[in-house]
Amino acid sequence: MHILITGANGQLGRALVQALAPRHRITAWSRQEGDISQPGIAQQVAALAPDLLINAAAWTHVDQAEEAPDPVYAVNGLGPGYLAEGCAACGAAMVQISSNEVFPGEPGRFYREYDLLQPGGVYARSKAAGEQAARQRLDRLYIVRVAWLFGPGGHNFPRKIVAAADRHGALQVVADEVGNPTYAPDVAEALAQLIETGRYGVYHLVNQGRASRLELAREILARTGRGHVPVTPISLEQWPRAVQPPRHAVLVNQAAAALGIQLRPWQEAIADYARSEDFSASE
Ligand SMILES: NC(=O)c1ccc[n+]([C@@H]2O[C@H](COP(=O)([O-])OP(=O)(O)OC[C@H]3O[C@@H](n4cnc5c(N)ncnc54)[C@H](OP(=O)(O)O)[C@@H]3O)[C@@H](O)[C@H]2O)c1
Repeated sequence: MHILITGANGQLGRALVQALAPRHRITAWSRQEGDISQPGIAQQVAALAPDLLINAAAWTHVDQAEEAPDPVYAVNGLGPGYLAEGCAACGAAMVQISSNEVFPGEPGRFYREYDLLQPGGVYARSKAAGEQAARQRLDRLYIVRVAWLFGPGGHNFPRKIVAAADRHGALQVVADEVGNPTYAPDVAEALAQLIETGRYGVYHLVNQGRASRLELAREILARTGRGHVPVTPISLEQWPRAVQPPRHAVLVNQAAAALGIQLRPWQEAIADYARSEDFSASE
């Protein structure tokens, strides 16, 4: 297949290029090569005419999004619509990457692919808008929700925790925000399988299990030889942010699992990630 990957320099974009390049012909567009917030991207996609487009581009600065919603909607809300329009024009299929934050995250709830969306902040609403924009224009569409992504080269929570531990020697970490820590290379591998099925629809590709921010922090510290660093649990209220994240936007992978596509437990993925170059420099 000829696969176009947008947002190819991002955390997931890079993992996708790495996973798919040995099996497919890849065109990888960074923001400079393909700005998805511009309506002209539709013609650009149609002119390339790939078999499949995977949109890994997004505005991902969740807190900053509250201050400037317009550029966030341009990328996350409108962009997927332009891309889907380009795909429809050339007969390509598409994967739109979405987020667990489209759900309200009520404590104790586990969200399946068919659950009703109820996004909170600007980022979450823009991601829900992006799902809808793509749906309105394309039938041959996979909507793939992921959560709490980490992976080589990314600006992610495990890296921030390790850097903060080295800087301060002790940490305070939120104990009452729970999600699915998810390894970008595992998502890329699962997507490689999913796109072979031709079974378009909504999927939740997350590593198995759930964790609080505190549990995830303790795991990465232990795996990188920093298990001695004292970590004090705090609540979300004690860690003020521009937008309160959903407390328990935990995704269940039902649809992909039914096709035999499942990601391993997040602890195994963290163990692999801890051995990556992201951590070797600071050890
Ligand atoms: N990270 C998470 O925890 C998480 C959780 C749930 C869902 N997701 C979703 O997963 C997907 C991948 O996230 P990620 O962690 O890989 O994000 P990331 O590392 O921030 O990568 C996003 C990429 O999109 C690019 N981009 C931004 N605006 C663009 C535009 N107008 N046109 C083209 N490219 C643009 C960025 O380029 P620049 O670097 O030049 O800005 C960056 O390379 C996104 O859809 C995100 O919403 C992520």
